[in-house]
Amino acid sequence: MNTASRNGHGSTVALLGLGLMGTALAKAVLKAGHPLTVWNRTASRTEPLTAEGATAAGTVAEAIAAAPVLLVCLTNQAVLREVLHPQGPALVGRSVVNLTTGTSADAAENADWAEQHGVRYLEGVIMSTPPDVGGTASILFGGDPTVYADCEPVLRALGEGAIHIGVAPTLPALFDVAMLSVTWSVLNGYLHGAALLRAAGAPTEDFLPSALGVLEVVGAWLPDYTRQIETGVYPAFDATLNTHRGGMAHLLAESEALGLRTDVPALLCSLADRAIAAGRGSDGYTALIEEIYAPQSAVQSSTAAN
Ligand SMILES: NC(=O)c1ccc[n+]([C@@H]2O[C@H](COP(=O)([O-])OP(=O)(O)OC[C@H]3O[C@@H](n4cnc5c(N)ncnc54)[C@H](OP(=O)(O)O)[C@@H]3O)[C@@H](O)[C@H]2O)c1
Repeated sequence: MNTASRNGHGSTVALLGLGLMGTALAKAVLKAGHPLTVWNRTASRTEPLTAEGATAAGTVAEAIAAAPVLLVCLTNQAVLREVLHPQGPALVGRSVVNLTTGTSADAAENADWAEQHGVRYLEGVIMSTPPDVGGTASILFGGDPTVYADCEPVLRALGEGAIHIGVAPTLPALFDVAMLSVTWSVLNGYLHGAALLRAAGAPTEDFLPSALGVLEVVGAWLPDYTRQIETGVYPAFDATLNTHRGGMAHLLAESEALGLRTDVPALLCSLADRAIAAGRGSDGYTALIEEIYAPQSAVQSSTAAN
């Protein structure tokens, strides 16, 4: 039987935590027509939701008893454990979907705890902000696919971009930081470019269309580069790493000449220099991944050798 149905409980879904994100989740669940019970430490935060049809639970235990699916969205992992762990036996057989941000190690610990306590468990990471929840929000889930399938009608209501990305509960947290790595790298590159133009007295707003064009061009390279990463073969079908390094030298020189801090170009140059020193100068740009992906044993032995 689908556990997203009521199964004799008062509600389809219960939700712990009505902060900015929890409240947005609650509204999305209600909007999709799922009967909802909510609990929050500060009880007054349940009031706008009860006005929209939710039921307020006076205690965590009451909320857990109210529905087969429990969404949890609290400040952090310490609070999550403080709230959930004392409830162990009451959670047996329940589907718990954790939407509290944490690391992959937290996710593994939570999944172990759930398994030991007979709790059906799913980890989720919300890649969007509250205004997008219930609309275009992207939410990644990892863990037991049968739990995802059972909860899917509720989880899809949280955002159009709700997807199950794998059986490992650690995956959502890893995707989260991997995507942030892309975000911050792109932004740092944009900010350094804008700083160059500002330092030279050029209008930075004229830079925007060119920068957006670069993102489109580089985005189109990614499918091929992904295949290269998968195969570990990095042909220079467009430009060699040596050629890229020549361009990086210009970026560094222009930055120094304009009196900018050189952290961003220095990082690019040092990665490329390591790859070239390792004999990869004639490979394509993707060969740099071998300088980033340094197995821990190699790092430890090189540290020990110094
Ligand atoms: N906001 C976003 O844009 C966003 C985006 C993605 C992911 N997230 C994640 O969503 C989670 C919640 O974020 P938020 O923006 O909703 O935070 P928030 O507005 O600060 O809300 C925090 C929630 O945790 C509760 N809480 C804090 N300490 C507690 C304790 N000791 N015992 C019981 N409840 C406690 C708060 O209850 P009270 O009301 O009683 O204080 C409140 O319900 C975080 O893990 C965050 O990383 C947020």
